[in-house]
Amino acid sequence: MAEYVLGHHLEGEGKRLALMSQLLDPMHRRHIESLNIEPGARTLEVGCGNGSISAWLAARVAPGEAVACDLDLSLINVCAPGLQLRQGDIMAGPIEPASFDLVTARALLHHVADAEAAIVNLVASLRPGGVVLLIEPDFLPITIAEPPEARAFWDGWLKTWSQERGIDYHIGRTLAPRLAALGLEQIGGAAETAIYNGGSPWADYWTQTIVELRDDLTRSRKLNEALIDTFLGYCADPSWWTQTIAFTAVHARAPCN
Ligand SMILES: C[S@@+](CC[C@H](N)C(=O)[O-])C[C@H]1O[C@@H](n2cnc3c(N)ncnc32)[C@H](O)[C@@H]1O
Repeated sequence: MAEYVLGHHLEGEGKRLALMSQLLDPMHRRHIESLNIEPGARTLEVGCGNGSISAWLAARVAPGEAVACDLDLSLINVCAPGLQLRQGDIMAGPIEPASFDLVTARALLHHVADAEAAIVNLVASLRPGGVVLLIEPDFLPITIAEPPEARAFWDGWLKTWSQERGIDYHIGRTLAPRLAALGLEQIGGAAETAIYNGGSPWADYWTQTIVELRDDLTRSRKLNEALIDTFLGYCADPSWWTQTIAFTAVHARAPCN
């Protein structure tokens, strides 16, 4: 895929990133906390979005440094001592080779043209003994969504639109073997989904994402205005309960040499 489909220029992207922070930061922070990153450490987050995780990391590693990198820094809404912002493209090469105790990326790899190259570049930024933490979606849970119209919507999203755009929404399950193939050690992780109903923050997240992508989605063979409206109707209905996508969080350590 050549182009990031949810560019920061889109109206509402700041609000959508704020919802991602609300929904996903607690899980992301919990995984980082389990990795024993010490004060004084240097951390790197790539595809930092609004910067919320890096701002939290800067406070956690003080007097160390948290580098937050993104293609586009225009939606960063944080500022913290020890937080360094850097505009950069992970496809162009490692941000700083062999320099970080922790390298993390969330919801980045399914958006890049070559996830394998991006992972190699992320791992190349680790110091010997440093830890990488990757968090990416796996759309498995929504393949059993009910009722059938909701499943038909996701079916169109997964089997036509995302394939036409070259987006791999099952990338979460590939993270561990990819890191193992690069020689990383102590690999572990977990995947989790969330249960939500219409009108909840997850329903708002999907509503906003679908509204942003609507024109593009309707160009796809299996998604039409009526199906999209039906799905948005469920997202507004508090009596509709469902599960969202899973997020797979995988961590691994670079050999100490
Ligand atoms: C879906 S957003 C996720 C933002 C944040 N990590 C989160 O989970 O809330 C993907 C982010 O990756 C950035 N991005 C996309 N391609 C990139 C690349 N090649 N290099 C660096 N950042 C990139 C986008 O600008 C965007 O901020």
